[in-house]
Amino acid sequence: MKFTVAIDGPAAAGKGTISKAVAKHFGFVHLDTGLLYRAVGAKTLAGAEPLGAAHHLVPEDLLAENLRTPEVAQAASRVAVIAEVRSALVAFQKSFAERSGGAVLDGRDIGTVIAPDAEAKLFVTASAEVRAERRYLELSGKGMDVDRDTVLADVIARDARDRDRDTAPMVAADDAVVLDTSEMSIETAIAAAIAYIDEKRGKTA
Ligand code: C5P
Repeated sequence: MKFTVAIDGPAAAGKGTISKAVAKHFGFVHLDTGLLYRAVGAKTLAGAEPLGAAHHLVPEDLLAENLRTPEVAQAASRVAVIAEVRSALVAFQKSFAERSGGAVLDGRDIGTVIAPDAEAKLFVTASAEVRAERRYLELSGKGMDVDRDTVLADVIARDARDRDRDTAPMVAADDAVVLDTSEMSIETAIAAAIAYIDEKRGKTA
């Protein structure tokens, strides 16, 4: 049976951690859709043309080592404004969302475009300052040479690009539950997500 969980929201709000925990808890498969855009972005940094890169994406591209760098994140949000790039990535995401046994997808447009009929929709957010601090700690913890002001500026620039684009902008679906994690521990956020999905599962069982 299909059960799709759509988890959208801005960078570093906790989507990824919540999605992985939810998938593990319910035994669902998980797709981090940001990786698709990051893989295309990384290819453009290496000189490829965005649409061709999107059409020729292969699973191994999602394993490239540099996908989590700030440069690739910015490149991802630049290719993500191109409608044709998004179209090239839609079919794979839609079929993943329909997988039987349950699927969690996290991104920006899952509840609105990829899986508008998802059984559970969350929009995970937090203030830009809190998200930038989390991203700073994550990147510096990996040994990357970053500074707080640049990380905050990057977060704000990426939010604006994702929110203001014409095609599939980042927005909470009308029927999504908004989870603001600004003042929440990650454990509390995960518990809230699981409780909400449990309730939805009860209704669709
Ligand atoms: O989620 P993550 O930060 O890895 O996403 C990188 C970029 O990919 C985002 O800033 C956004 O521009 C783009 N993206 C998107 N739609 C998605 C997932 C990611 O446009 N569903």
